[in-house]
Amino acid sequence: MTRTALVTGGSRGIGAAISKALKAEGHTVAATYAGNDEAAAAFTKETGIQTYKWNVADYEESAAGIAKVEADLGPIDIVVANAGITRDAPFHKMTPDQWKEVIDTNLTGVFNTVHPVWPGMRERKFGRVIVISSINGQKGQFAQVNYAATKAGDLGIVKSLAQEGARAGITANAICPGYIATEMVMAVPEKVRESIIAQIPAGRLGEPEEIARCVAFLASDDSQFINGSTISANGAQFFV
Ligand SMILES: NC(=O)c1ccc[n+]([C@@H]2O[C@H](COP(=O)([O-])OP(=O)(O)OC[C@H]3O[C@@H](n4cnc5c(N)ncnc54)[C@H](OP(=O)(O)O)[C@@H]3O)[C@@H](O)[C@H]2O)c1
Repeated sequence: MTRTALVTGGSRGIGAAISKALKAEGHTVAATYAGNDEAAAAFTKETGIQTYKWNVADYEESAAGIAKVEADLGPIDIVVANAGITRDAPFHKMTPDQWKEVIDTNLTGVFNTVHPVWPGMRERKFGRVIVISSINGQKGQFAQVNYAATKAGDLGIVKSLAQEGARAGITANAICPGYIATEMVMAVPEKVRESIIAQIPAGRLGEPEEIARCVAFLASDDSQFINGSTISANGAQFFV
């Protein structure tokens, strides 16, 4: 069955691959972004997928943006909370601003994205909530106290939502990507990237499409009994 899907941060990186994969499944997709108008316009030109700009850290903006998407494209049955940022620093140098920006975007942003669509999913007795967490939420990471806290928080969110939504036909699951070849990872110095790859038994970075295929499955009607789970997609780098 084809449905309407919302992908936050869906115009670049992993999110862009997710938006395209959901479109390829026949779904109508809305992709959001924060401020990179040029990338969003190029994405729409390439894919025909509509983009919407709002800050996921702001509840009122998110609710208004979601209302606009639903007015344009119909009720949202699939929501992929993917938008995320890093503001890395060792803990003794991490500023309260670096902490707050990451919490507001990566963690509160998930609340702001899912909360406005939840009542409609309950009413229609169908919903798919997919949150893009991270390997670093599972194992922690040097200089990422803020980021790891949000990504571990994602796992608590989906496990709780799964219990609340199960009887209403709603599933909530998380995907924990390992290191994926996006701008976020390609921006780190080459030496650091090489040392990252050396820790991945698969001997390579993951591709955004490999995460997108997990999302497409979790978004499908076939995945109904998978609820509250965490899929690790990390080339055997870490096991929970
Ligand atoms: N790349 C990896 O190796 C990796 C590994 C594990 C987990 N992840 C997670 O996967 C997700 C996607 O990562 P990525 O590497 O694809 O990131 P990316 O290439 O940097 O793209 C981030 C996307 O999120 C949007 N965004 C950022 N802040 C936002 C905000 N406040 N409001 C709305 N949209 C916002 C960006 O919009 P603009 O285009 O306007 O900036 C962009 O579309 C993140 O949650 C990240 O933590 C990534």
